Amino acid sequence: MKKILILIVCLVSSFGNVLANNKPEYNDKDINNIINLLTVEQKARLLVGCLGSDNGVSHRVAGAAGYSFFIDSLGIPSINLADGPVGVRISPVSSKKKYTSYSTCFPSSTALAATWSENMAWLEGNAIGGEAKAYGIDIILTPGINIMRNPLCGRNFEYFSEDPRLAGIMGSAMINGIQDKGIGASLKHFVANNQQTGKLYNDARISLRALREIYLKGFEICIKNSDPWTVMGSYNKIGGKYTQANPELLKTILRDEWGYTGLVMTDWYKKRDTSDQLNGGTDLMMPGEQSQVDEIVVGVKNGRISEATLNESVKYMLKLIFKSISYKGWQYNEAPDLAGNAELARKIATEGMVLLKNDSSFLPIPENTKIALFGITAYKSIAGGTGSSNVNKPHIIDLSTGLEKAGYTLNDRLKGLYTKYMEFQNDLLDKHPESTDWEKISYYRTVIPEMDLSKAESIIESEAKKSDMALIVIGRGSGEESDRRLEGDFYLTPEEKLMIEKVSSQFHSLGKKVAVIMNVCGVMEMNSWRDKTDAILLAWFPGQECGVAIADVISGKVNPSGKLPMTFPVDYFDVPSSRNFPMVGKTKDGKNFDYTNYEEGIWIGYRYFNTVNLSVAYPFGYGLSYTGFSFGEPKLERKKDKWVATIRVTNTGEVSGKEVVQLYVSAPQTSIQKPSSELKAFGKTRDLKPGESEIIKLQFSDYDIASFDEDNSRWFTSKGTYLLSFGSSSRDFKATVSFNINKDKSWKVHDVLKPIEKVNVMKLSVKR
Ligand code: BGC
Repeated sequence: MKKILILIVCLVSSFGNVLANNKPEYNDKDINNIINLLTVEQKARLLVGCLGSDNGVSHRVAGAAGYSFFIDSLGIPSINLADGPVGVRISPVSSKKKYTSYSTCFPSSTALAATWSENMAWLEGNAIGGEAKAYGIDIILTPGINIMRNPLCGRNFEYFSEDPRLAGIMGSAMINGIQDKGIGASLKHFVANNQQTGKLYNDARISLRALREIYLKGFEICIKNSDPWTVMGSYNKIGGKYTQANPELLKTILRDEWGYTGLVMTDWYKKRDTSDQLNGGTDLMMPGEQSQVDEIVVGVKNGRISEATLNESVKYMLKLIFKSISYKGWQYNEAPDLAGNAELARKIATEGMVLLKNDSSFLPIPENTKIALFGITAYKSIAGGTGSSNVNKPHIIDLSTGLEKAGYTLNDRLKGLYTKYMEFQNDLLDKHPESTDWEKISYYRTVIPEMDLSKAESIIESEAKKSDMALIVIGRGSGEESDRRLEGDFYLTPEEKLMIEKVSSQFHSLGKKVAVIMNVCGVMEMNSWRDKTDAILLAWFPGQECGVAIADVISGKVNPSGKLPMTFPVDYFDVPSSRNFPMVGKTKDGKNFDYTNYEEGIWIGYRYFNTVNLSVAYPFGYGLSYTGFSFGEPKLERKKDKWVATIRVTNTGEVSGKEVVQLYVSAPQTSIQKPSSELKAFGKTRDLKPGESEIIKLQFSDYDIASFDEDNSRWFTSKGTYLLSFGSSSRDFKATVSFNINKDKSWKVHDVLKPIEKVNVMKLSVKR
């Protein structure tokens, strides 16, 4: 009793001075004591968040996505949660404050994944964590590591890859970067949030093998490698139950199998049955409403929620609060390093750009080249996608500005034409005349439809005469809330096709070259038009420094070293999941809306294309460089329970550059059909000077190469001979070694999360 009194005194005296330092550190026992002091109403209040406008917030940061409730009498402060994947999404506040609350807009998660550099992911996370800390944000709602199951998912740009290992490793590095700043990350959206259409209720019907190997694997890697402070559930269902109320997912797998001890929260707004959610393993309802508090109180009274369940969630919540900067005494005393972070955003953007084509080493382009710059997004570049990952950035540097800064000459007439067209379009689309400037930069009119050049023959002709080359930019936006369309989105619009057609033929007829920059969210159809161009650089959504970052690569200041984190198929219908993905515009009912059958099973991306040996436009892991690399003799050693592989990479060209080593494992065939090869590890060299080399060391375990054996609910690694290939892409293996596993190995897990109806998973007829 004495101890509790001391605790109360301590807690109460610390409150009222929430920003003071030297807060007591609580251990589990203290937290249990605090729980004993709380009423059921207070416990319920802690587990239901609130919005900044509510009275329950001890300090608010304008524009944060949500807050937890504070308990004044016990010195428990609110914590603030803000998006997201490319930076801290808050609103700028009044000029009375000594700081500006613009946040750096970093490259999208896809662009970050394309760096294949854990260091870059750590740096981006750490910088976002730093800005969060400066603005008083406790938890950053990122990373989203859902699998890019289908090229049309509207949120793919917020995700990392079609491959769970790449997504998991890059996601872990980002989480570690954020959390090393003392800010919590939120691993989301757990799990199978792979389409926007019907996302609030869609039941993802997935075979247990695909669920474990593809959809859960990235999350498993992040939980084990980086221990995120929080996990956010997804909106959809799995096994016929909402993920956020699914104990098989949140308790059996996340807590029991993976040992997770952080907090689980809901995704935003879509209120479900609160008792079901608590019983199912969700601890915090976001952003929360009073009716959920009432439901918890009633649920405890009528026995739907046990006190033990309630206390367990409160324990996770208190542990989180006591780790937070709000509890530890955060103050407005540290302005974020926006200038330094802008430089970092630029660097990461360049490192993620993928050189897809470079005939006759046309790129890089020398300074002073006269460039005819075509395409609306050359003058209004796209920094990122729309929705919750958008941030209030200080600026977006468009490509035309970036090129001029880099010393290129742009033709004034063309620039004038695009500027006028843009003004016209802005007037047309200006549905929000009341918006402030920052809103205009951040939210609206990210993509203006391409200009119709069908009557512009003479302009193109005179440009071709006056300029040394043409640069065409293709832009494509994407956002939360809707999936992408096929026509005019995955495929080029008629105006874009015409622009490429006309500009290329005019310039080529004069012996001048044409390069294309793709300022796009993700996968596009390219086979039908790429031959008309001499070079293609995939810049993704590169963040606010877009224009200067692209110019860095075009000019050769930075040698591109990005690699594709997903496959670019020849056509959309080559993608197996296209048979089970909602086509925008079709009836919203039943199949693909209420439920989606993941009939492709594990055959996602390169796992499918490489196994059946189908042509693709660009394979997973692909990306060119301005230099060349050779791979030496690989070595493989068994060290304790790990396989450790090393290989020397040498820069054989004439300029400095970085190369990614991708380690693929081909397993012996057993009754479980395996992909021809699967990525198990990767590493990137430092910037190697011509002639310089570096030994890259990569490792994996027997568990990492296991497949999921549904019939026996276990991970299984069969004995036999395995091939280990060191690739520059998933279709370009430079060296191979073999190794033996002498006896079968297995790891038993729970038989949970069965789809409510059996999924007829496609079988591949391939002879290996
Ligand atoms: C999104 C989340 C986001 C949350 C808060 C939801 O609509 O799905 O990714 O973190 O909003 O803004």
